Amino acid sequence: MVLLEGLKIANQIKEEIAETVTKMKEAGQKVPHLAAVLVGEDGASLTYVGSKVRSCQKIGFESTLIKLPQEVTEEVLLKHIDELNRHPEIDGFIVQLPLPKHIDEHKIIMAIDPAKDVDGFHPVNVGKMCLDLETFLPATPYGVMELLERYQISVSGKHAVVIGRSHIVGRPMSVLLSRKGIWADATVTLAHSRTKNLKELLLQADVVVSALGVPHFVKGDMIKEGAVVVDVGIHRIPDARLPKGYYITGDVDFEEVSKKASYITPVPGGVGAMTIAMLLKNTLIARERAMTKA
Ligand code: GUN
Repeated sequence: MVLLEGLKIANQIKEEIAETVTKMKEAGQKVPHLAAVLVGEDGASLTYVGSKVRSCQKIGFESTLIKLPQEVTEEVLLKHIDELNRHPEIDGFIVQLPLPKHIDEHKIIMAIDPAKDVDGFHPVNVGKMCLDLETFLPATPYGVMELLERYQISVSGKHAVVIGRSHIVGRPMSVLLSRKGIWADATVTLAHSRTKNLKELLLQADVVVSALGVPHFVKGDMIKEGAVVVDVGIHRIPDARLPKGYYITGDVDFEEVSKKASYITPVPGGVGAMTIAMLLKNTLIARERAMTKA
């Protein structure tokens, strides 16, 4: 079994981006600037956005964090988005999801200028992704594809089962795995909460990507010997005996599944760090595109 060390690969990608930023600075060019909008005080979202902003600082990007209260109205949030769309210094921005229930997530995503949508969530960018046109790919599935490629794991002609059909991970993951290309070309099954014969399907899978959101759902007896297993789940499990009061785990029962898998991502240290690295990559691409347009 080989560990797919997302953290290590993400650090390599960040170093590559940092080198490009250094060259931009030396050439007197503007460096990439990422903004993040965070609504409310959700613990996980605060952690994710904090990591995104810190990563920007580490690699030499400019960053802006806009923190809004949980009760912010849709109208005020849309005004912030409009400002970010027009702001000449900001190359790309994200609105951290989920949003409070009183805000229409689709309306917010559709208000983002597709040219600054470094999350790749706007329908224009989703459409481009489905048509194999150049665009911003959603960071988590993009990170999974990059991780597989950097470990030289070919999924071509293989059966990949993706568990979970979220707009952020599962759905785009199924599209990227099935696209044409030497590091894609998989035959994909997209499984979800209504799938009847999940265990049967998983036992036929050469590649499993779990983005279900249930801790330790994927057990050893659900996985074929030699399968590649990618765990996108990230859960805080309370444990009073630990100094932090919790531990982090994924959708996959690592203990059991690692005995059967040929390659497996750990949690933490797997896909999570790749998400941030690919968001930074998208922001660099946004800056480079803005530069060639100017
Ligand atoms: N919430 C969970 N993952 C993501 C992500 O990749 N982008 C945004 N904006 N929100 C998220």
